[in-house]
This record gives sequence, C-alpha cells and structure tokens, in this order.
Amino acid sequence: MKTQLICLTLGVVLGSCGGSEKQASHSTVADTTVVKVVKDSLSVYLPDVKASLPEAQTVEVKDDPVFFKAKSYKAIPLQTVLDQFLPAYKKLDLSQTQIVFECEDGYNPSMSLAKILSKKAYLAVSDTDAPAGEDWINPKKGNHEMKIAPFYVVYTDVPAKDVTYKWPYNLVKISLSAASKELAVLFPKEDDTQVKGFELFKVNCLTCHSLNKVGGKMGPELNYPKSITEYWQVEHIKQFVKAPSSYRNDCKMPAVTHLSDRELDEIVRYLQYMAKHKV
Ligand code: HEC
Repeated sequence: MKTQLICLTLGVVLGSCGGSEKQASHSTVADTTVVKVVKDSLSVYLPDVKASLPEAQTVEVKDDPVFFKAKSYKAIPLQTVLDQFLPAYKKLDLSQTQIVFECEDGYNPSMSLAKILSKKAYLAVSDTDAPAGEDWINPKKGNHEMKIAPFYVVYTDVPAKDVTYKWPYNLVKISLSAASKELAVLFPKEDDTQVKGFELFKVNCLTCHSLNKVGGKMGPELNYPKSITEYWQVEHIKQFVKAPSSYRNDCKMPAVTHLSDRELDEIVRYLQYMAKHKV
C-alpha cells in the first residue's frame, strides 16, 4: 500500500502510478485482509470488496450515454460506497479533491469529488435487462464489444450530453487525490490565454491520453518525449480527433464530435504550448 499513499501525497495518482499500483494491490491482497487494504489508503480495489458491498437498489437512467437509451440497473449510491470503504474522504476538502476512476482497459477519468457528490451518482453492479445468470449486457461500438463488467458509474440526474460528468464502465478501482497538485503539472502557468485549451483537454482528452506522463493510458501519451504537434500537422490532429476511423482501421479512439473547430484549435494551441513544457 506504500505506492498508493505516496501517489496520494504527491497527488500524482493519474497515469504515472496506475500500473504499478494495480500490481501492488493485487499482491497485497495475498498477505493481508481486504479490510486492511481498504483502511490503509484512499483507494479501493472494487473486485476485492464485491462481497461486502451494501445491498443494491434499482435505479432508472433516462438517457444512458453508453447505451444511448433508457436503462435500469442494480446500483448503490456512490456516497454509500465512499462512506463504507473510503470514510476518510469526509476529512478532505471536497472541492480540492479529485475522484479518480481506474478502468481495466486503461481509461482513467477523474473529476471533482464535490461535483460528483452534488448529483445522484451510483455504482452500478448489474444491468436489470441482462439475461438470466449474467450481470451485464455488452453494447457494440463499431466492431468492438465493450465490456461493462465489473462496475459502471451512472447518474439519474445528469444529462448524457454533459461531458463534464464521467460514466466509467469496466471500472475496477476508485481513488481520491489532491486536485491542485495533480493538475499543477499540466496547468499553463506561464500563459493564461492557454487556460481554455487546458480545460478542454482536461475534460475531453486527459481521460485517455497523458501529457508529461499524467493522465489516462487508453491512448498514447501526447507530449513526452515528442509532442504530437512536433510530428503531426495541426490540421491532421483536428481531422483525426473528429473522425479517427477515417485514418485508421479498427481505431480504438471514439470520434469527438461535440467540440467546435474553435475549441479544437484551443486544444491544439495548448498542446503546442505543452511541447515547450516537457518534464
Ligand atoms: C475514450 C478514449 C479517448 C479519448 C477521450 C480521446 N482519445 Fe485520442 N486516442 C485514443 C486511442 C485509444 C488512440 C489510439 C488509436 C489507435 O491507433 O487505434 C488515440 C489516438 C489519438 C491520436 C493519434 C496519436 C498517435 O500518435 O497515433 C491523437 C492525435 C489523439 N488521439 C488526440 C486526442 C485528442 C486531442 C483528444 C481530445 C479531444 C482525444 N484524443 C480523446 C483514445 C482516446
């Protein structure tokens, strides 16, 4: 559990600690009890605690952004999960704390703990429409079957189009980290005209891509050692983001269609700034 505590203190939970951390919690489980694993750190490896989760209730989601329709799930309020497994969160400054989700496929979204707790967020444990004997239905995205198990975070009061709320599926771990420190590495301190681009990148790209080794691991790092802006033409970065599968067969990056050209320009400009601020 040392790794997790160190990550937390430095606030570098995203990306850089993810992989080894997962290893650490797996190996720790063998020589200690689950309860100890949970109490000792501000992260919880969900498959380890599955049997002791409180009873799930049925919740209705009007507009599910993963299934693109109304859904219902067996789910536990996220707050109840935190109360039980990460009770120390109550002593933190919620507005300065990030909740970080770690998914098996490398998707690593995070958001403000205060923001997520202001809505009706749930940890879904099964899909009520799943066939008998199964917990989940896996939707198709292009040729890929998406794996929703083992857990999925849903909301009953957040519209699907609000991309500032994350709906991680294939979720295995929840951690808490200090917001300001984690983002300090990526914040454009020397040029405040880049703040918009930074915010847009943070919400729309950082979940899957790291910069300076901070961020998600589903897609490639985009700044270190070479920035994407140093070997791709700007126009192609924008076109790729809008339609990745027009560049690559069987591409695992989903098309980003909700950003305007101007917003994509802001993101690219921020990436060019970061090219001059490598670690
Ligand atoms: C859901 C995860 C996800 C999100 C969100 C995402 N990407 Fe990606 N991205 C990927 C994956 C996966 C790849 C690798 C695609 C492949 O080659 O199959 C990729 C590839 C790329 C590449 C090509 C990199 C290279 O050298 O091959 C660029 C550029 C890129 N993404 C930019 C962005 C930007 C900018 C955003 C935000 C507007 C973004 N991506 C959002 C997952 C994501």
